[in-house]
Amino acid sequence: MKILLFGGSGQLGFDIKKRARDLDFEVVSPVTAEVDITEREAVKRFVATLKPAVVINSAAYTAVDKAEHEADTAMLVNRDAAGFVAEACAAAKARLIHISTDYVFDGSLGRPLKETDPTNPLSVYGRSKLEGEQRVLEALGDRALVLRTQALYGQRGVNFVQSMLKLFPERPELRIVDDQWVSPTWAGWLAEAILDFVRMPVGGIVHASCHGTVSWFDFASEIQELSGRSFGDKPLARLERTTAKELNRPAKRPTYSAFDTTLISSLLGRAPLPWQEGLKRHLAEIGVITD
Ligand SMILES: NC(=O)c1ccc[n+]([C@@H]2O[C@H](COP(=O)([O-])OP(=O)(O)OC[C@H]3O[C@@H](n4cnc5c(N)ncnc54)[C@H](OP(=O)(O)O)[C@@H]3O)[C@@H](O)[C@H]2O)c1
Repeated sequence: MKILLFGGSGQLGFDIKKRARDLDFEVVSPVTAEVDITEREAVKRFVATLKPAVVINSAAYTAVDKAEHEADTAMLVNRDAAGFVAEACAAAKARLIHISTDYVFDGSLGRPLKETDPTNPLSVYGRSKLEGEQRVLEALGDRALVLRTQALYGQRGVNFVQSMLKLFPERPELRIVDDQWVSPTWAGWLAEAILDFVRMPVGGIVHASCHGTVSWFDFASEIQELSGRSFGDKPLARLERTTAKELNRPAKRPTYSAFDTTLISSLLGRAPLPWQEGLKRHLAEIGVITD
């Protein structure tokens, strides 16, 4: 089966390509210099010529804080270009799997979020992704699957796990937010789930994260606990709790955006990996711990 992947050079795209190689998929993944998804006609031409069965759009403007000052660019890539990809899929009769985010929510409900819960983005990035979802679903209806994910980490790209592993031996102390809760999601697990959905004609919005809820502080503590031995005798940073208010980042994040994984569990016929297991597999994959 032929898949067209946008965003193949990104963190999630890397894992999708890696895992697709082991399965019976032909993956075509043009880099931005070949197809810039903000160029409507170029996207349409490329999809029409390639005739993929399924397009995966993992391309996005992901600089969450910078987006507060670069709203036009964030909207162009995450909203307009998502729409261009969807239109091109509609014209070529291809299905689309579009990746979105927990930042479409404000996180005020204080419990794991269902697909039907009300959205209310707090940031430019969140708004741009929400409007992108809407463009995709308007253009394709049930031929689009919007997979919302969150707190992603994989082998490539900048992510929380990689930052912690770098900073633990460098800093005497690290202050980590302890009043925001997420479902940390290993890109390796998500890539496998996405490739399962390639073969499954499911549409609509589905929450796709590893299972469970943890604060960023407790997540950092677990990373340190599991990786500690790999640093030998080096002293590691003392972890201190802080608040989102104290950290004062330019973009506001949801307070509690862990996902309810009931729907994805029933669609895949298995529950997502617990976040702790995802973290162990990731650390094993990058050689920090042994299996
Ligand atoms: N990272 C997270 O924690 C997180 C959480 C929730 C949801 N998500 C969503 O998950 C998806 C994947 O995220 P990620 O972490 O893999 O992102 P990433 O590492 O920042 O990768 C983004 C990808 O998008 C491509 N891209 C950007 N602008 C483009 C354009 N105009 N035309 C074509 N390609 C373009 C980039 O290509 P270049 O290399 O050429 O720039 C790169 O391959 C995104 O939809 C993101 O919103 C991520």
